[in-house]
Amino acid sequence: MRQDRRTRLGILFGGRSGEHEVSLTSAASVIAALDPEAYEIFAAGITPSGRIARPSELKGMLPVELFGRIRPLAAIGTEASVLRVASGAPEEAPPAVGGDGGPEIWFPLLHGPYGEDGTMQGLLEMAGLPYIGCGVLASAAAMDKDLAKRLLAQSGLPVTPSLTVFSRELETGLASVRERAERAWGYPMFSKPANLGSSVGVRKIRRREEFGDAVRDSARYDRKILIEKGIDGRELECAVLGNDDARASVVGEVISAGEFYDYASKYVSTESRLEIPARIDAATADEIRALALRAFAVLDGSGLARVDFFLDRASGGVWINEINTMPGFTPISMYAKLWAAAGVPFAELVRELIRLGLERFEERNSRRVSCG
Ligand SMILES: Nc1ncnc2c1ncn2[C@@H]1O[C@H](COP(=O)(O)OP(=O)(O)O)[C@@H](O)[C@H]1O
Ligand SMILES: [Mg+2]
Repeated sequence: MRQDRRTRLGILFGGRSGEHEVSLTSAASVIAALDPEAYEIFAAGITPSGRIARPSELKGMLPVELFGRIRPLAAIGTEASVLRVASGAPEEAPPAVGGDGGPEIWFPLLHGPYGEDGTMQGLLEMAGLPYIGCGVLASAAAMDKDLAKRLLAQSGLPVTPSLTVFSRELETGLASVRERAERAWGYPMFSKPANLGSSVGVRKIRRREEFGDAVRDSARYDRKILIEKGIDGRELECAVLGNDDARASVVGEVISAGEFYDYASKYVSTESRLEIPARIDAATADEIRALALRAFAVLDGSGLARVDFFLDRASGGVWINEINTMPGFTPISMYAKLWAAAGVPFAELVRELIRLGLERFEERNSRRVSCG
């Protein structure tokens, strides 16, 4: 019998975060884009409540025409799911790696909390499974905008000026935070939850009267809130691909339909658009690419990340806004388009990410964990 030489790729998608739907789209595009002759795809859908979806539930999560291309996770036994490991039986964990028929590598194609934030990466580590993308710490550090900015600033990288406030301080300390922010930079400001994405809970504060409501609104989503200097800037993004030898893509620009790149401008409006490459001078593009690589290295990223910037319209200065360790991943998403523009088509991008994930896995396994 001929050996099946296809790469067995497990895709984890959906998930518990507000970006569940975005993840479904990312997963559907990856499945549709990969050559069935080259990949055997295991689909592990995660419901909004955090369960691995039953095969019948997958119907609501992926377009039916893709069903011929995937094997539900149950095909290797529900017992073989990573959830088994979460339930505390690692020694009986399923034979999921290598020549046993399960996925050789997992793609946590999950955005936001419980997926992009190191939690799923931790689960995969516990299960001893190779996966694509950043590890536990880089994922967690990048997801927390407060922590990420502290780490980057400490390495001398330019981050948007901000103050951090905890929801417990809002009752008594709101006025003093507001005064500090007013003294530091004045209006407009932005308030945002530290740990979300897709612009959920991000509010522009134009004047003092809006301050309290905006910050309280952001606090509905997180116990930690950032209050930032509002930058009148162009929004530029750069994709990073690699492990220790990471490369930076060309730079792209997001031209938002709304006053800022809020949820509606990202996912509802058809007016927002991407310009690749961004119309900026070569020196600025080089500066952004260098900053993207440094930011990735400071957080000890692996695999992929998209680093987002503001280019200050008045001063021409560049600020790092945030790092996304699992950016939207469809062929028409910024991440893939930046690489396509740099000469790396989508299928090759996925192949390279798999190679990088396996490389990181092997490297980790080759290290000692004790001095014995
Ligand atoms: N300090 C800021 N100055 C100007 N615009 C901002 C600022 N912070 C956020 N924004 C706007 O809000 C959008 C979403 O904020 P961001 O911090 O990128 O959160 P998310 O992780 O949800 O994408 C940005 O793309 C930008 O349009
Ligand atoms: Mg953003």
